Amino acid sequence: MLRDTLQILLAAYGPSGHESAVADAVRELLEGHVDSMKTDALGNLIVEKFGTDENAKTIMISAHMDHIGLVVTDIEKEGFLRVNAVGGISPLFVRGRKVVFKDGLPGVCALEPNTKNKSTPDLSDLFVDIGAESREEAEKLVSIGDMAVYAPDFTALGKHKVASPAMDDRCACALLCELLMYAEGQKHNIVGVFSTQEEVGLRGAKVAAYTVEPDIGLALDVTAWGDTPETKLPAVKLGQGPAVKIMDRSMIASPAVREKLFEAADLAGVAVQREVLAFGGTDGGAIQLSRGGVPTGTLSIPCRYVHSANEVIDMRDMEGALKVLLQFVDLA
Ligand code: CO
Ligand code: ZN
Repeated sequence: MLRDTLQILLAAYGPSGHESAVADAVRELLEGHVDSMKTDALGNLIVEKFGTDENAKTIMISAHMDHIGLVVTDIEKEGFLRVNAVGGISPLFVRGRKVVFKDGLPGVCALEPNTKNKSTPDLSDLFVDIGAESREEAEKLVSIGDMAVYAPDFTALGKHKVASPAMDDRCACALLCELLMYAEGQKHNIVGVFSTQEEVGLRGAKVAAYTVEPDIGLALDVTAWGDTPETKLPAVKLGQGPAVKIMDRSMIASPAVREKLFEAADLAGVAVQREVLAFGGTDGGAIQLSRGGVPTGTLSIPCRYVHSANEVIDMRDMEGALKVLLQFVDLA
């Protein structure tokens, strides 16, 4: 079930560049459901499921495994950690939050009191308290360069919504897993790429696309929301279906792929939204610029409070997206 797969993947530790625990969880879920699995030098997990058509195209579908986080830059003599960003993480979202390091070591984040009068504190005003009482004690637990992520969590909100810190982009990893599990006798070759280092610049997808040489590219990712107080853009609402991206800062979606997604949604009987995002990017931006160019689109899951410790999605959009994907790999 989608929800169970999602919960398994949300629990794995995986800041950018350190995604192997997520890859292990995916490998375990997909064992016996796919034709091949391999990991490349950047840690991308590349999974093939062959199509049945003699003219089968190769469709690369990417979902990133990495999660934004904090990297230790210095340890104060009193034992507090100084940190910098791994991806787009804001001090306003991080303050007061619990984080965990790879070995499960917890910490809590706080802002210096003198930042109260600052309208925009930055990460240099933040420190992480791991309970150590001296630099020496802290150094036994962490080293400069160690990374922390928001502590894993999963909360059901109302009938259909769920909140978690790692929804970006484990919800898409869950979709891609389920697609690979449930696609049966589909026309085209699916190459699922569970990519790395998206949050620091679409790095994993860039090399994976070169290796895979796809005929068609598709990224799966969260997008922003326009349905909370004083938030009107993008014109995307939770629970109204997955969104077909028209453009964002990283790409203008291939009109042909976009239309195939609409067609697949039609066949699946799933309502979809049209997404124009004034900021952000996805693996799609890297895939479409690979080699001589790849026609590429993005299917998005609307997500509130992206990059906070409570990223909220609607499970109805997830279920709709899975149905669209199952049609797409038969049609594209
Ligand atoms: Co992100
Ligand atoms: Zn993402």
